[in-house]
Amino acid sequence: MAYDFADRLKNLPPYLFAEIEEKVARKVEMGMDIIDFGIGDPDLPTPRPLVDVIKEQLDDPANHRYPSSQGEADTRQAIAEWYRKRFGVDLNPDREVAILLGSKEGLANVARAFVNPGDKVLCPDPAYPVYAQGAATLCDAVPVKFPLYEEDDFFPNLDGLPQDAKLMYLNYPNNPTGAVVSRANLQRALRWCNDTDTILCYDNAYSEMTFDDYVAPSVLEFGRHAIEFGSLSKTFNMTGYRVGYAVGDATLIAGLKKVKSQIDSGTPKFIQKAVPAALGAYTGPSRPKIVQDSVDVYRRRRDIIVKGLRELGFDVKLPKGTFYLFFNVGSSSIEFANKMLDAGIVVTPGIGFGKNGEGFVRMALTQPENRIEEALERMKKVL
Ligand SMILES: Cc1ncc(COP(=O)(O)O)c(C=O)c1O
Repeated sequence: MAYDFADRLKNLPPYLFAEIEEKVARKVEMGMDIIDFGIGDPDLPTPRPLVDVIKEQLDDPANHRYPSSQGEADTRQAIAEWYRKRFGVDLNPDREVAILLGSKEGLANVARAFVNPGDKVLCPDPAYPVYAQGAATLCDAVPVKFPLYEEDDFFPNLDGLPQDAKLMYLNYPNNPTGAVVSRANLQRALRWCNDTDTILCYDNAYSEMTFDDYVAPSVLEFGRHAIEFGSLSKTFNMTGYRVGYAVGDATLIAGLKKVKSQIDSGTPKFIQKAVPAALGAYTGPSRPKIVQDSVDVYRRRRDIIVKGLRELGFDVKLPKGTFYLFFNVGSSSIEFANKMLDAGIVVTPGIGFGKNGEGFVRMALTQPENRIEEALERMKKVL
C-alpha cells in the first residue's frame, strides 16, 4: 500500500537542520570532537530544589493519574501570582491562564482555535519556525512573512504590514537574533494588532533570560487583548519536562483550551508541581538566585565569545536577551556552517530561520567557557 502525506504536510519546507544533524552524526562516528552551538537547549542542569520537588511528588500516587489538559488549579494560580509579582499584571487563573506541554505546543495550537483555511498569519522572518510551519501551514493557512532587519533592531515596520491577517506572531527577547523590544515598540505593536483586529500571539519564552539593565516586559502590561506564551524551559533549564503557559484574553485562552481538551491530557501532575516551587522563588520583579545564577553563566559566556568573534573580524552585537548570538558572516550561511563543521564546530545557518536570515549564523551559548575558547581557537585557524 502506498501512503501519501496530506497536502499540508507536503507544504512544509524541507527540514534544513536534518542535513546538518546527519553530517554531525557522521563526524561523531568518525571520532571527531564536536563543539555544538546548534540547538537552544541549556547545558546547565535544572536547579536541585526543583528536581527534589518533582521526585517527591512522583512518590504520591495521586500524581500518577491524568492531569487536566488546561493545567492543575494550583499551577494556574502560581502563574497568576507570578504575573502580579513580575509584571504587575492581574490574571484570573481560571479564565486567563492555561498550562501547556511547553510553549511550542500552545504557539501551534492557538492557530487551530482561531485560523480558518486560507487565512493569513503574519510571521516574522527570521523567526522560530513553529509560527509559519507548526501554526500557519499545518492549519492550511497562509504564512505571510514580514522582514526583521538588523538596522531596525529586528523590529518590524508595522505600517508596511497587511491589515487583513487573522493572527500575528511576535517574539522578544528574540530567537534567533537575540534582539529585545522597547516598551514603546511593544505597546505600538499591540495597538496595531488591536486596531486591525489581528490576534497578537506574543512569544515571551525568554522573558527571564536578559542581560545588563534590560528587563523584558509582558505585552499584557499594555492591554488585555492578546495572548502571551511563556515557559519554564529556558528560565529553569527545564526543556525536557515540557511545561509552559499561555496567558491573556479570556476568549483566546478559552479557544486554546478547547483545542487542547480534544488532543492532549496535559503536563504530568508531578512536573506541574515544580511550577509553584520555581516561580514562588520570586518575591518581586527581580530574578531570584536560582534564575540569576544561570543568567550570570550565559552573560560570562556571551562576553567571551563576542570579544573573540570581534577579534576575528565579525561585527557582533552584544545581545541583551536570549542565549543566542546572530551575526553576519558575509557569505552563504550554509557554506559558513559547513566550513565550521569541518573544524568540529556546529553553528546554525540563518537561512534555516527564513530568507532574511541568509548571510547570518546563530550560535547558542550552551557550551562551557573552556569549550568556547577552544572553538574560537579552531575558528582562528580555519578563517
Ligand atoms: C522563541 C521560542 N519560543 C518558544 C520555544 C519553545 O519552548 P518550549 O516549548 O520548550 O516552551 C522556543 C524554543 O526554543 C523558542 O526559541
